[in-house]
Amino acid sequence: MPTNSLTITDNRTGKTYEVPINEDTIRATDLRKIKVDDDDFGMMTYDPAFMNTAACRSAITFIDGDKGILEYRGYPIEQLAEKSTYLETAWLLLHGELPTKDELTVWTNTITYHTFINENLKFVLDSFRYNAHPMGMLIAMISALGTFYPEAKNIFDEDVRNRQIERLIAKMITIAGFGYRHMVGMPYAYPDNELSYPANFLNMMYRTTELKYEPDPALVHALDVLFILHADHEQNCSTSTMRVAGSSHVDPYSSVAAACAALYGPLHGGANEQVIRMLTEIGSKQNIPAFIEKVKKGEGVKLMGFGHRVYKNFDPRATIIKKAAYGVFEVTGMSPLLEIAVELERIALADEYFVKRKLYPNVDFYSGLIYQAMKFPMDMFPVLFAIPRVSGWLAQWCEMLNDPDQKIARPRQIFTGSRKRDYKEIGQR
Ligand code: CMC
Repeated sequence: MPTNSLTITDNRTGKTYEVPINEDTIRATDLRKIKVDDDDFGMMTYDPAFMNTAACRSAITFIDGDKGILEYRGYPIEQLAEKSTYLETAWLLLHGELPTKDELTVWTNTITYHTFINENLKFVLDSFRYNAHPMGMLIAMISALGTFYPEAKNIFDEDVRNRQIERLIAKMITIAGFGYRHMVGMPYAYPDNELSYPANFLNMMYRTTELKYEPDPALVHALDVLFILHADHEQNCSTSTMRVAGSSHVDPYSSVAAACAALYGPLHGGANEQVIRMLTEIGSKQNIPAFIEKVKKGEGVKLMGFGHRVYKNFDPRATIIKKAAYGVFEVTGMSPLLEIAVELERIALADEYFVKRKLYPNVDFYSGLIYQAMKFPMDMFPVLFAIPRVSGWLAQWCEMLNDPDQKIARPRQIFTGSRKRDYKEIGQR
């Protein structure tokens, strides 16, 4: 009769062990009883990059990478992108259910009225050089923001926690907008409480002398869709960073700053910037085959915006973004790089190298083109990823704090260095 357990025989000792299976998973600590002798520490698993290790139980985001499925709290990403707004989706991620009409009204109002930042934060921003990368400024500003709210360290007080969540989501667009204005040397544009969340962000980015900034509704909608698509993606690099930093019980601003730093890397949130650089470097359709050959030869060149650790069929976000891109180009005019992107995608998807390795366009392949068409400088792309991902990070952070299984994160190592040796005086080395 089948039982929910795994029988392991250690051929070093001939001993057999029974390990319980729950949710198709064994507990790594159950392997510790597998020992050669009493002095043995016990069996560990070696899993660099966490390729096959579940570090938490989570009810927030479901991904089936083989089938190209992405759901937030059970709702397919396609339906959310079509019918929801980013703020509604953020509530869904944080609370587990879609808000009622009243809840949504209060939530939207609360976020809108928390968009102002303390004036002193402007001095922090002013101290950066004009060419500072906006992601570096964002990381520093989020960290600095936390110093204005010392009560934020009371992470087990639900009311305090919720207030910081509201502040972080609200102020992300202000910090991001102000960071851009600092880069281009323009006066900061303050939030306009009559605008929606994405429209308000565009207002803080681009308002100049108009009394009332009114962004094109098609662009506002496209930005909102992009925010929805980027809001969460289960245990990716930055979310794991959020959980690991948060597991020390530090305040959420510090954890979000750490998560932002992880997102900054070119293999994560920095990839859409790299896509534009790559398309620009390719320059024209004729140069695509030579570029593909370079990628295949592994000459240190990757097809940026392709491949994903979990999606091995297609990235559902890429499909939605490709559609949204055409909506944006109707307003902004066609991007000259789009033609190259479409052709590059066509050639790569028919090439055995990419087919065999299950490499498909990911969320970043087309998002950069939209951002570029909306006049965001390339350096701002990872910031545009970070703005909505804050809601996912915070939802995951709350889940972690309420999970009795969680403790401070502390992986093990296989020690490969020298053991005890005597210190050598400098003259003897
Ligand atoms: N171009 C060319 N070859 C690739 C690419 C690519 N973009 N991605 C993976 N490969 C190859 C890789 O060289 C390896 O080949 P081989 O088996 O011959 O050694 C094979 O495919 C498997 O790749 P991997 O590096 O083991 O896959 P991974 O799961 O560790 O990496 C990835 C995933 C996203 C880091 C990687 O695909 C990549 O670097 N892509 C380009 C950067 C990018 O677009 N990142 C955005 C990810 S989506 C946004 C997000 O969620 O963060």
